[in-house]
Amino acid sequence: MSSNGNENIESVLKETRTFPPPATFSANAHISSEEQYEAMWNRAKDDPSGFWGEMADNLDWFRRWDTVLEGDMPDTKWFQGGKINASYNCIDRHLTSSRRNKAAIIWEGEPGDTRVLRYQDLHREVCKFANVLKNLGVQTGDRVTLYMPMIPELAIAMLACSRIGAVHSIIFGGFSADAVADRNNDARARVVVTADGGWRRGKEVPLKAAVDASLDKSPTVEKVVVVRRTGGNVDMVPDRDFWWHDLMEGVSTECDAVQLDSEHPLFVLYTSGSTGKPKGVMHTTAGYLLGTTMTSRWVFDLKEEDTYWCTADIGWITGHSYICYGPLSNGSTMVMYEGAPNWPDEGRFWEIIEKYRVSIFYTAPTAIRAFIKWGDQWPEKYDLSSLRLLGSVGEPINPEAWMWYHRVIGQERCPIVDTWWQTETGGIMISPLPGVTATKPGSCCRPLPGVVPDIVSPDGQSLGANTGGLLVMRQPWPSMLRTLWGDDERFRATYFSDIEGCYFAGDGARRDEDGYIWVMGRVDDVINVSGHRLSTMEVESCLVAHPGVAEAAVVGFPHEIKGEGICCFVTLKTGDGDDDLKKELVQHVRSSIGALATPDQVRFATALPKTRSGKIMRRLLRDIAAGRESTQDTTTLEDLSILAKLREDDE
Ligand code: WT7
Repeated sequence: MSSNGNENIESVLKETRTFPPPATFSANAHISSEEQYEAMWNRAKDDPSGFWGEMADNLDWFRRWDTVLEGDMPDTKWFQGGKINASYNCIDRHLTSSRRNKAAIIWEGEPGDTRVLRYQDLHREVCKFANVLKNLGVQTGDRVTLYMPMIPELAIAMLACSRIGAVHSIIFGGFSADAVADRNNDARARVVVTADGGWRRGKEVPLKAAVDASLDKSPTVEKVVVVRRTGGNVDMVPDRDFWWHDLMEGVSTECDAVQLDSEHPLFVLYTSGSTGKPKGVMHTTAGYLLGTTMTSRWVFDLKEEDTYWCTADIGWITGHSYICYGPLSNGSTMVMYEGAPNWPDEGRFWEIIEKYRVSIFYTAPTAIRAFIKWGDQWPEKYDLSSLRLLGSVGEPINPEAWMWYHRVIGQERCPIVDTWWQTETGGIMISPLPGVTATKPGSCCRPLPGVVPDIVSPDGQSLGANTGGLLVMRQPWPSMLRTLWGDDERFRATYFSDIEGCYFAGDGARRDEDGYIWVMGRVDDVINVSGHRLSTMEVESCLVAHPGVAEAAVVGFPHEIKGEGICCFVTLKTGDGDDDLKKELVQHVRSSIGALATPDQVRFATALPKTRSGKIMRRLLRDIAAGRESTQDTTTLEDLSILAKLREDDE
């Protein structure tokens, strides 16, 4: 476990404040009492099939399942025999009531343009685009890459894919051409949907140009569909590239949702692992949809009249589960925003909340830390009285940021749900229930119904209160990943080989005397930059690809805004290196992985600290990057003098 994880425990142990839910909130909540929560949790633990079978009545099925749950982790199958469609559940089933005229998506572009899509508008657009995909030759089971800005067409394209059983693979727009090519190749994608560009801080992010560059290296892609968003210049290759608006013209507005098996793949989403190659996390239809539908209702307490806003990008799992599938399956109204929180100024988010009377707001600690830095004068300029519930996701929220969120944004009125989950878990696992849980700043509190976590030692023994250990799941849950695309062996090795019979999340955590869980972060070498999980190995292999670099070790260090910053220790093939080379390396990483991987520090070293067996001692480097005295055991270090040298290089 990393030394900084242990320090986190020290600091959070001092946290003793608790915040019970307001009585009026509890009175109206979907889950409104401790007794109700405990009854649900125990039922789900003791009789998962009974519990989830009942919950599954909240979805619309073409054919009812034969069995709720078959097999043991990791080979579990949910709702075998059932036929279902996610797009149908998110749209069609709302068209038989007054919900058909309800806003599904209230969209705001960064330049200030807006669009509202009611459920029946969404139905029309999704049907049309599903027909477009079919006309391009896309069949059930084919993979389609979506590399798009945060515009309604992204949600439309996702739901069009799931409507015909095509598997979407969404790539966050901040990734580079090479990253797109790698993911296209791994998924063997046949079609890419993109846009000319998207708006970010008043500048155009040129997406189509990146797709063009990626296609030289990803030969499986046959067709490209391009949304005109910015109006920027793009090169269109005849017979390969098509404008979205051209293809949509004259296409039928009806397209039956395909009746899919419960375990039909819904999407792949690539996430960084502890070795270089990204992992294609695969989710399937019924279990994922059920998990995100129920957790949206329980955790966000979604009601017919709410206006819900999740600020994540759909390119991450948060956007898949809590912008698209979960809220739409519940027939909710959601806000979707294209751009940056500080454009045209630092008040943009609060302006949007005031403008649309947002009632539920879900964001990330990295954003909250930025808001704090920008100052209270920004939220204070706007009317935030419509808010009734706040959420946080992506990394542990430090108690000070929690208190600020509670005081300045929630005005001491709104419960905060600190939701722990992962790309792999599909939906929220550990979180307060806003009408039930007395929250503690910095803790994600207790497991949701159907989630049976434990904290164990490396040999799998359950640990008692207030002892840090590995966070595992002892029972399967419907929205868990089913495999890693094309690499089932890695799936088993990564999640199911460390602790016998359990899913290992890769996080360290402890449970306090009240059974509340405090997550301490990753125990491996993945770093969390601004809520984005990045593999240090990926950055290292990129650095080593530069002709001047001999060896590289990349570690995270605590960063005020981003959560973790990226520090690169580099040894050169020749020479000592200078500021120009530092800049060149920063640029090199940026252009090969994407802006989100931009290194914060580059330090040249004559050698890296290694064990006798040649393993780089990352824990030591973490201490150096953070400017801490090291308490690590250095007895296995090969050459102690290296340490002193690295510290001398402190800037
Ligand atoms: C990792 C998963 C879940 C969507 C966004 C990130 C960390 C996430 C919390 C939280 C403490 C958290 C964990 C987890 N994490 N939420 N509320 N408290 N840590 O998805 O990229 O798959 O990352 O993010 O370390 O394992 P992801």
